[in-house]
Amino acid sequence: MEACGHSLLFLFLLLCFSSLSYVFSALSNVEAASIIHRQLLALSKKEDLSDDFEIDVNIANPRLHRAYIALRAWKKAMYSDPYNFTDNWIGPDVCSYHGVFCTTAPDDPSINVVAGVDLNSADIAGYLPAELGHLTDAALLHINSNRFCGIIPQNISHLKLLYEFDVSNNRFVGPFPDVVLRLPSLKYLDLRFNDFEGALPSALFDKELDAIFLNDNHFSSQMPYNFGNSKASVIVIANNKIRGCIPNSIGKMAATLNELVLMNNVLSGCLPPEIGLLRNATVVDLSWNSFAGVLSKSLEGLTKVEQLDVSHNMLTGVVPGTLCRMPNLVNFHFSYNFFKGEAEECVPMSTKSTAVVEDKSNCLADRPAQKSAKMCAPVVSRPVDCGRSKCGSSSPVKPVPKPSPEPSTPPRPPPSPPQPPPVRSPPPPSVHSPPPPVHSLPPPVYSPPSPSFNSPPRPIHSPPPPGHHHSLPPLPSHSEAVPPIGGLSYASPPPPFYPGYN
Ligand SMILES: *[C@@H]1O[C@H](CO)[C@@H](O)[C@H](O)[C@H]1NC(C)=O
Ligand SMILES: *[C@@H]1O[C@H](CO)[C@@H](O)[C@H](O)[C@H]1NC(C)=O
Ligand SMILES: *[C@@H]1O[C@H](CO)[C@@H](O)[C@H](O)[C@H]1NC(C)=O
Repeated sequence: MEACGHSLLFLFLLLCFSSLSYVFSALSNVEAASIIHRQLLALSKKEDLSDDFEIDVNIANPRLHRAYIALRAWKKAMYSDPYNFTDNWIGPDVCSYHGVFCTTAPDDPSINVVAGVDLNSADIAGYLPAELGHLTDAALLHINSNRFCGIIPQNISHLKLLYEFDVSNNRFVGPFPDVVLRLPSLKYLDLRFNDFEGALPSALFDKELDAIFLNDNHFSSQMPYNFGNSKASVIVIANNKIRGCIPNSIGKMAATLNELVLMNNVLSGCLPPEIGLLRNATVVDLSWNSFAGVLSKSLEGLTKVEQLDVSHNMLTGVVPGTLCRMPNLVNFHFSYNFFKGEAEECVPMSTKSTAVVEDKSNCLADRPAQKSAKMCAPVVSRPVDCGRSKCGSSSPVKPVPKPSPEPSTPPRPPPSPPQPPPVRSPPPPSVHSPPPPVHSLPPPVYSPPSPSFNSPPRPIHSPPPPGHHHSLPPLPSHSEAVPPIGGLSYASPPPPFYPGYN
């Protein structure tokens, strides 16, 4: 029993903290998750939290006392803290802890409470203990770019004020952490660059979130039919294995969606004409999927779009000139498809459009660097009927027939590291490896993120100003260290104050 425990512990430590985890590729993710789960249970039993000699130090303020219990348990769940970030996490004065921010309670101006914890970029290895459920006053929990592993504990469902949850660029595993759906105040959800897998719950898109970052995980379900119910302004699901079609419900996001990045999944079917209803979208990236059919003329409704990328799909037909003349278009990439024609405005360097257009590796007569006639013929001669395709009823969707055979679909970009020794610090390189053929250009250059997502970075490690117990501490930011995706670098929408606090 002991020996078993020890070898499990050994395995756990290996899985969590060493770059050797790829050695265990024979171990399925589910098995790994269950091992880690069991081990977490064992470890938390082993931790003796009863050495509570300071038990009544904070008793005058029971909320700080509970925070103390949470943070002490968390510190014990940290195995490595290479920058000594939590060195001063000693004793009951949690408001002096590095990365812990206190302010007056929204419901009781006479006491201080822990309003946020920011451990961004600390490179700490460890896990999240269930005791974090005691941080019931926290509005912000930012732990991006660390080496936390295991699962997100159910007990964080007690964080009723939690507004921003950023666990990006860690080593969390297991299914989508449904517990985040039970956080009533949550607006900003950032799970990117972890090892989550399995289905995206449809409830995610019914929850009132402002930003959803799921990119660079291993999610593999169909796109939930209620996708369009989301009111988020940014949805990034790039670099997963989401399949199926884009639900027609996407049109319901017309007033709210600013950025949609679905790049490098296994999506298929026709592009729903409702995409053209997204009049506020500035970034629409559907590249590196298996979309078929024609580009609907309705897409010209994307009047605010600056970055439009449909490259590396199976699209056919003619690229309409109205798309290339959209007023705010900066980059329009439709390379690596099977287009047989493009309007005059869509010819790269055309004087009729100011956008940078990319058209290579299609079936365009008179254009350089196109597919061979032999590759084009079978696809171009068999157009896909998009008129009848509907996507997104809750009943199973009849798949749109894919052009067949599939001649030389360009190789996909390497899925985000198949588990090579993870490079955590500095963050993983851009996920956008250049397309294979020779004359390839660098990845698309995206304009800076939209202003609401790009307020000036705040110093994340600066100590709160003197007297912070009476004024609001500086807001930690979680934008700096998150790896960019395809040149896009998203910061969270920094709320003007600790949400719920004022
Ligand atoms: C952290 O503390 C240890 C021991 O006090 C010290 O040896 C090490 O240099 C410190 N590391 C950093 C990055 O300050
Ligand atoms: C987790 O929450 C449950 C109640 O939902 C509670 O009984 C339990 O003590 C909590 N665990 C810890 C470690 O705080
Ligand atoms: C969407 O655009 C309209 C004008 O077209 C504007 O009034 C509205 O504020 C925008 N909404 C968002 C969320 O950007």
